[in-house]
Amino acid sequence: MSNRRTTVEQWLTQQDGLDNLRRSSAPMPSPGKDEVLVAIHSVSLNYRDTEVAMGLYKYYDQPGDDPSKPLVPASDMCGVVIAVGEGPHTIPWKVGDRVLSTFVQAHLTGQITPAHLATGLGKPLPGVLQTHRVFPTYGLVRAPGHLSDHEASCLPIAAVTAWMAVRGAHPTLKGKTVLLQGTGGVSISGLQIAKASGARVILTSSSDEKLARAKGMGPFAPDFVINYRTTPQWQDEVMRLTDGRGVDVVVETGGAQTLYKALDCIAFGGVVACIGYTSGREDEGSRPNINLLVLRRTVTLKGILNGPRDQFEEMCAFYEEHGIKPVVDRVFGFGEADEAFKYLFSGQHFGKVVIKVAE
Ligand SMILES: NC(=O)c1ccc[n+]([C@@H]2O[C@H](COP(=O)([O-])OP(=O)(O)OC[C@H]3O[C@@H](n4cnc5c(N)ncnc54)[C@H](OP(=O)(O)O)[C@@H]3O)[C@@H](O)[C@H]2O)c1
Repeated sequence: MSNRRTTVEQWLTQQDGLDNLRRSSAPMPSPGKDEVLVAIHSVSLNYRDTEVAMGLYKYYDQPGDDPSKPLVPASDMCGVVIAVGEGPHTIPWKVGDRVLSTFVQAHLTGQITPAHLATGLGKPLPGVLQTHRVFPTYGLVRAPGHLSDHEASCLPIAAVTAWMAVRGAHPTLKGKTVLLQGTGGVSISGLQIAKASGARVILTSSSDEKLARAKGMGPFAPDFVINYRTTPQWQDEVMRLTDGRGVDVVVETGGAQTLYKALDCIAFGGVVACIGYTSGREDEGSRPNINLLVLRRTVTLKGILNGPRDQFEEMCAFYEEHGIKPVVDRVFGFGEADEAFKYLFSGQHFGKVVIKVAE
């Protein structure tokens, strides 16, 4: 401990613009119970970090939060454990272990909750754009041995998000087609994960150079690329490339300018994973983009077009088993069928409106 520095160098934002990030220093912290001190080697940035710094990331703000309070930004780091606090330890890290931060520190399994979100790094909790930071032992994972520190630091947000979107979409991706938008962190992680999972990939970008670079990614190269600037109706091209079938998965990172097009080139039964809004956060009419509304509470919107015969039979058995009877609100005579229509349209009914056709 004697040679150890006594201060931490860090960057701060007061969420007042990218021009106003500033350097600062703070006393070196000591790890407490079930905590470790990490020397941070590499930090990767995410779109979110820019939003935080510009004061645009307010989705989970609480009354009384003060955005002008200096905050260390960023959430994704690779570093090395240099001191271990008192036990018992949830995870038994040792000095020298190479570790990655998890974005939402308390989200250990299952569905994310507001309580978990209160433990997000780089807002609301102090982030990782600093030389050292204390973490709870459960807020770290082991860095994969085959990756450099820089490479490994890219995993916590971009790759994990892409993993959830791509691998969570279908039980198997073999023979499926995945559409990725742009060549940012999430999309390129999604490309690697989808290709490694046996999927075909269509990748879009504003830049032919970036698309050419993606084409050079060997086994992770996309099968097809589209420049969305020179082909603004890229959804038509996606339909053409998939023989009119559409793609099975869209990793929807684009938002306002992409979601509606994605819905025009998704296959029947496909999955649109609503992730981001790099093309805009407001839909027409200044409404918040649907991606934003959906991802904010991690909800699933699913289109339903009736159901198959086997489900119908299953349902009938369920009705029988539970003695369920449909609720008939009103029965109209055959001659008053038009009245029945008006009645239904008026919305006065409860349950079903029926027309008695035969005496
Ligand atoms: N829900 C989550 O958990 C989660 C996690 C991570 C990220 N996100 C969100 O996902 C989005 C992407 O994040 P990121 O970190 O990957 O961002 P990023 O690395 O900054 O990616 C930016 C890329 O977006 C692409 N883009 C811009 N306008 C586009 C358009 N009209 N159509 C298609 N692509 C367009 C551009 O690709 P080209 O230059 O190739 O055109 C640009 O390089 C952001 O909105 C972010 O907030 C959400």
